Amino acid sequence: MGKSIAVCAPLVGDVEEKLAQKFDLRLHRGPALEDEDAVAGFIQDAEGAITLLFNPVGRKVLDSCRNLRVVANCAVGFDNIDLEAARQSNIWVTNTPDVLTDATADLTFGLILAVTRRMVEGDVFLRAGRFDGWKLDMLLGRGLQGKTLGIIGFGRIGRAVAKRALGFGLRVLWTDTTSDIEHDLEGEFVELDELLGRSDIVSLHCPLTESNRHLLGEERLRMLPRGAFVINTARGPLIDEGSLAMLLEEGVLGGAGLDVYEREPEVERSLLDRSDVVLQPHIGSATVETRIAMADLAARNLTDVLEGRRPPTPIVVPNEGR
Ligand code: DGY
Repeated sequence: MGKSIAVCAPLVGDVEEKLAQKFDLRLHRGPALEDEDAVAGFIQDAEGAITLLFNPVGRKVLDSCRNLRVVANCAVGFDNIDLEAARQSNIWVTNTPDVLTDATADLTFGLILAVTRRMVEGDVFLRAGRFDGWKLDMLLGRGLQGKTLGIIGFGRIGRAVAKRALGFGLRVLWTDTTSDIEHDLEGEFVELDELLGRSDIVSLHCPLTESNRHLLGEERLRMLPRGAFVINTARGPLIDEGSLAMLLEEGVLGGAGLDVYEREPEVERSLLDRSDVVLQPHIGSATVETRIAMADLAARNLTDVLEGRRPPTPIVVPNEGR
């Protein structure tokens, strides 16, 4: 029998069949494993696990799954995994960067266009039978040309959004924890507060960490120019959803485009009734091509570790830096 592996939720494509040819594969098909006891109870004695962003992998899982050598997260984000605990347990952690950059940047831009041009409102308006002829002042939105897009987090996805933004005639400001990111895009690095003061649209593209929960709370959201739009395709807890809803209600903000939520899959009740907010169910990377590529990369990461090779996209490398 091959090494035992646990796949914590069904993947897309034929990756499970391929893995089953090499490993003794256990696949979880039931309700999502959303707490550590459930995740640990499923992984048990497996040497490798493929996890999804809703599977928490903390100290409890790592301590009780004694044979575990690799956690291959099928997502670019890894806030569901306690990296320090993995380091201490000498367990590889990998993610799936690059393969979802374009899909996520495309959806970000879809949200920017949908919210500034009121596309969902237009759809609802038409289906309700309210379109009774073309009018000069019907459903007026906001144009993008000459406006400023502030990008928070200038990694792969942030830069892919910037590339699209330049094609739409937007000026790009960006901020990151480091200012010396190499890129060939027209844009200006500024500190976060300055970016907020100057952005007509702000879009989040940084990872969620212990220190940046509510990065955009009430105080920072109020720094945006009146009528600004807020876009989030990164992680929900980066924004204080209650404050966002309040500032939309007050008319301080012009609208929001959200793909991720603070208490996912719950959404702040008051946002659901607003026509100036476009909401998507965390589908940034949801194209057939991308989801297959993510599953393939997660499988490759897991396979490489279990077969003694260095995986292509590690986040935690056992014994590194010690
Ligand atoms: C990720 O990969 O982190 C996204 O949120 C889902 O693709």
